[in-house]
Amino acid sequence: MKIAVISGSQRPNSQSLKVARYLEERVAGLCEGSSVYLLELGTGPLPLWDQSMFTGDPSPLKEAWAPISAALTEADAIVVVTPEWHGMVPPALKNFLLMCSKELANKPGLIVSVSASLGGSYPVVELRTSGYKNNRICWIPDHVIIRNVSKMLNGDPASEEEKTVVGRCDHALRILVEYGKALRAVRESGVADYDTYAFGM
Ligand SMILES: Cc1cc2nc3c(=O)[nH]c(=O)nc-3n(C[C@H](O)[C@H](O)[C@H](O)COP(=O)(O)O)c2cc1C
Repeated sequence: MKIAVISGSQRPNSQSLKVARYLEERVAGLCEGSSVYLLELGTGPLPLWDQSMFTGDPSPLKEAWAPISAALTEADAIVVVTPEWHGMVPPALKNFLLMCSKELANKPGLIVSVSASLGGSYPVVELRTSGYKNNRICWIPDHVIIRNVSKMLNGDPASEEEKTVVGRCDHALRILVEYGKALRAVRESGVADYDTYAFGM
């Protein structure tokens, strides 16, 4: 099982990256033989989407995207860690989703939202509402919201609240792995015709 973990904050040393690294480690503990590809949008943000993605012409964007696309294509499931920024998902993460097409199609996705305070709901709603139409990622019903994130996942769980977060993360990751196995059957069925239906409705 290969799992891609995306840290969606566009600043280095973010809390999102801390959480992404934690989940990377937990996946290894929970799913024997798994491997994780961690994509960090903070230290290596992608150039903004440009027309070369449609025309196929060589461009700095296509060059940057090629290895990421290859790693995502290999993945069975994806975890997206997103901070809440002004009540929404950061632009770098939306830009990333714009880049994705067949790489994520019919693969399960786990949304993990983080907030410095008591926010975190808006990015979940945003990702569930928009951004999946053309890349066909399948967000699983469970998601995780980590509030007061700077006090969470810094070492041994210190509070009851943190123990709840740890339990939630494990539960959601376990379910994600099972969806990862199950949705392989959909992808291998051959019914998806994305040459004819390149874009969702
Ligand atoms: C531009 C910006 C806007 C933010 N807006 C919100 C917000 O609307 N709600 C919220 O709970 N936290 C907000 N925060 C605080 C983040 O929750 C906090 O920075 C947290 O550490 C997650 O972001 P990070 O992964 O970039 O560190 C904002 C932070 C930044 C930098």
